Amino acid sequence: MSMPASIALVGAGKMGGAMLQGWFGLGLDGKATTVIDPYPSADLKDLCGRHGARINPPAGSIAPPEVLVLAIKPQTLEAAAPEIAAMVGPGTLIVSIMAGKTIDNITSRIATASAVVRAMPNTPAAVGRGITGAAANAAVTPAQRETAAALLSAIGRFEWVANESLIDAVTAVSGSGPAYVFYLVECMTKAGVAAGLPADLAERLARATVEGSGELMFRDPGVSPEQLRKNVTSPGGTTAAALDVLMAADGLAPLMERAIAAANRRAGELSG
Ligand SMILES: NC(=O)c1ccc[n+]([C@@H]2O[C@H](COP(=O)([O-])OP(=O)(O)OC[C@H]3O[C@@H](n4cnc5c(N)ncnc54)[C@H](OP(=O)(O)O)[C@@H]3O)[C@@H](O)[C@H]2O)c1
Repeated sequence: MSMPASIALVGAGKMGGAMLQGWFGLGLDGKATTVIDPYPSADLKDLCGRHGARINPPAGSIAPPEVLVLAIKPQTLEAAAPEIAAMVGPGTLIVSIMAGKTIDNITSRIATASAVVRAMPNTPAAVGRGITGAAANAAVTPAQRETAAALLSAIGRFEWVANESLIDAVTAVSGSGPAYVFYLVECMTKAGVAAGLPADLAERLARATVEGSGELMFRDPGVSPEQLRKNVTSPGGTTAAALDVLMAADGLAPLMERAIAAANRRAGELSG
């Protein structure tokens, strides 16, 4: 998948910065790259300097880019919209990663917008191991879909969803998901302490277990999580004893379903 011929990144904080680094790694031409951010960090200036990308050029001095990526905080959209609208041309694809901002919110505030992809990444993007779900409006061409997928794949895995309403469910599973995994480590640590371990040791054990298990899944995506679980569960053994509790009718599955349903509902309430 190839990088676009020209790109503007609006908002180069944690997510925008991680994406920019990934794009340069994939061969994006720095000279065709414009970054808009009111207070660019030293790292950002250094990255852009090394690749010859422009930061905050004077308004009106750049031609409309092939792609404009919106990585500002959602609450900043209203104020930033006029500046963004002035940069967008009729052929510009807008790729937004703003949580809770719908495609309609974007096209209604940015009068020049037509083709829009709305994406939801997650925090492991910071280490290139995120996953992003995205939806496109009807104005997005097949070639633009490929470009959006290439850009968003720079921070990890990438999936299209059939329609925008599913972005709330993506948010509930993978957008908010890293926090569930961190909480799992906290719970395993507490349970380890209750079983007699020193707290620091319990945390190291729980943490490394999640890190290593994640790596096993990452290295062999062809093996299902269910199979990986079965592979480490001897009948009548210790793992089976714990799974009897976790897999009981009132165990983890209904709890996770409630948690994800709550996040899904909240994502819907926050969209606007
Ligand atoms: N972090 C995540 O895990 C995650 C997950 C999914 C979606 N997202 C979405 O990704 C977006 C960015 O999140 P983030 O964590 O990267 O936030 P962030 O670090 O705060 O980055 C936002 C950047 O935009 C800059 N900015 C503010 N106003 C601007 C304007 N008018 N024009 C250009 N740049 C402007 C900010 O500068 P100042 O700091 O100087 O204001 C900051 O550098 C958010 O919309 C968020 O909903 C994030």
